[in-house]
Amino acid sequence: MSNKTILITGATSGIGYSLFEQYSEQGEQVIVCGRNQQQLSSMGNVAFKTCCFDITDQQAIEEASRTIESLDVLILNAGNCRYIDDAKHFDGELFADVIQTNLISLGWLLQYLLPKVKKGGQVVFVSSSATLLPFQRSEAYGASKAGVDYLAKSLKLDLIKEEIDVTLIHPGFIKTPLTDKNDFSMPFLLSSDEAASRIIIAIEKRKSYAHFPKRLTLLLKAISLLPDFVWQKIIVKD
Ligand SMILES: NC(=O)c1ccc[n+]([C@@H]2O[C@H](COP(=O)([O-])OP(=O)(O)OC[C@H]3O[C@@H](n4cnc5c(N)ncnc54)[C@H](OP(=O)(O)O)[C@@H]3O)[C@@H](O)[C@H]2O)c1
Repeated sequence: MSNKTILITGATSGIGYSLFEQYSEQGEQVIVCGRNQQQLSSMGNVAFKTCCFDITDQQAIEEASRTIESLDVLILNAGNCRYIDDAKHFDGELFADVIQTNLISLGWLLQYLLPKVKKGGQVVFVSSSATLLPFQRSEAYGASKAGVDYLAKSLKLDLIKEEIDVTLIHPGFIKTPLTDKNDFSMPFLLSSDEAASRIIIAIEKRKSYAHFPKRLTLLLKAISLLPDFVWQKIIVKD
């Protein structure tokens, strides 16, 4: 069987880096993307190709896309998380920044990279289990990822005729530089290697949806079915 060409955004760190390592070990051709040129250079010996661009920069994405021939799997993983610390004095700039990075950029990435995905190929969205229930301080992150959920589910319907599968991923808490900043307890924390293995299995099985760890995501799904006043009591901390 021939090697697959797999592009990963946000491959310089965390979940994306673990995906790069595991796919490279399997012998796949991995195109790694990120802004950290130093880190990309250190991956250059193993990676099929490195692309340094900011996903919020339309022109940079277009330029990078011109250097890419075709893709079997497009993994849209890059993202950031910032919290709204004072809801009453809402930080519109922070909100715009998170929506721009986690959601708007996906439109540009799809515009330039989806045409490269072969018939029979796959597009994967790394969203978040944060969309299963509203959480405090997550107005920006949660809204951006809820947008990703809808985008993935809608795109799935329109890509059926193109014979391209779409997979939506809902990770729980994963230990990465993104969550190392968190000052609250993160139940059932997984390593980025464990997260990457689960994502790779979901892609291999061409699942439309994968969520993990189930002990967290099923609990969140169950709580979300309760009446509003009940789950709000469970979630609100102060
Ligand atoms: N960790 C968790 O618990 C968790 C849970 C649910 C969902 N997720 C999602 O999983 C994805 C990966 O997160 P992670 O935890 O692995 O975080 P991470 O270690 O901070 O990695 C984030 C990656 O995204 C890239 N990135 C961020 N902003 C970018 C930009 N403007 N342009 C280009 N690349 C950018 C970073 O690359 P550069 O620094 O090189 O730009 C980095 O490679 C995110 O979408 C996150 O929302 C994470």
